[in-house]
Amino acid sequence: MRKKVKKLIQLSLFNDSEFSIQPKVEEVVVDNNKLNNSNVIKNISYDQKEILWNIMQLYNQGRPFDCDMTASKLKFYEYSKKAKYNIPEPKYLFDVFPQSDKIKKIEPLGKLPLEDNSIDSIVIDLPFVISPPNAPSAKSDKKGSMIIFNRFYAYYPVDEMYRSYMHWISEAYRVLKENGTCVFKTQSTISGGVQHNTEEYSYMCAQKVGFTGEDKFYLQAKARLISSGKIKQQQHARKYTSVFWVFKKTLKKKNKNFNYFDLVENMYNEEINRQ
Ligand SMILES: C[S@@+](CC[C@H](N)C(=O)[O-])C[C@H]1O[C@@H](n2cnc3c(N)ncnc32)[C@H](O)[C@@H]1O
Repeated sequence: MRKKVKKLIQLSLFNDSEFSIQPKVEEVVVDNNKLNNSNVIKNISYDQKEILWNIMQLYNQGRPFDCDMTASKLKFYEYSKKAKYNIPEPKYLFDVFPQSDKIKKIEPLGKLPLEDNSIDSIVIDLPFVISPPNAPSAKSDKKGSMIIFNRFYAYYPVDEMYRSYMHWISEAYRVLKENGTCVFKTQSTISGGVQHNTEEYSYMCAQKVGFTGEDKFYLQAKARLISSGKIKQQQHARKYTSVFWVFKKTLKKKNKNFNYFDLVENMYNEEINRQ
């Protein structure tokens, strides 16, 4: 069915106040039977619920996720009448720092209280901030709540983050059934002037434990906090994107098995031999 609809066209990807261009209303033709630029599932959004919704449709047969192991304040599942997408709460909710009675406590390098090969899907949203528990910002709260906040929303030292990512990706692989889906949210981060490529690292961990990197969605932010602290000259781009990886526990690989560890090794050896 073809129909003319009025649609807001965002003219620029940059939506920060300094770059923003007024959206313009345009008439576009939408054919509901065919994929087009209006209705196709895109790998980019400003709304993390839209990304989770699209992952549910593409990779979870439209079903809710079974487990969230970093459930925290359950922000992914907050219901709103006005929201375009509402994500149902998973059956199993865990966190190292549970913020509600519904959420079961787990240990930072512990096991999920689930059997091997027992669930179809899991959501993981680990911290990506590197900061000591007694950082100046943490000390500001007399009751110590900021210290707890830092302890659970940041890693320190940085090796803890790398260790934790490998641990939980490996644990997700254990509990997922064949063809199960792991949704892994992360963001590259800067610490001590060094860029930590957590997006690539989490993908490498996933490949190492046996997952296939099936898809990747980018969540964009319209604004970020800009620290006005000691840094006089900017050294790296401020991150306005995070990623949602979709890792699949596919035991039967499609066509050729594109294991990038092996591929890089083989291609490199070929290249050396050619020289
Ligand atoms: C970015 S928050 C998750 C937010 C959540 N998705 C929501 O919608 O509210 C990161 C979560 O990871 C948990 N966490 C911190 N350190 C962890 C660790 N070492 N292992 C597992 N989870 C950890 C924190 O308790 C926190 O709830």
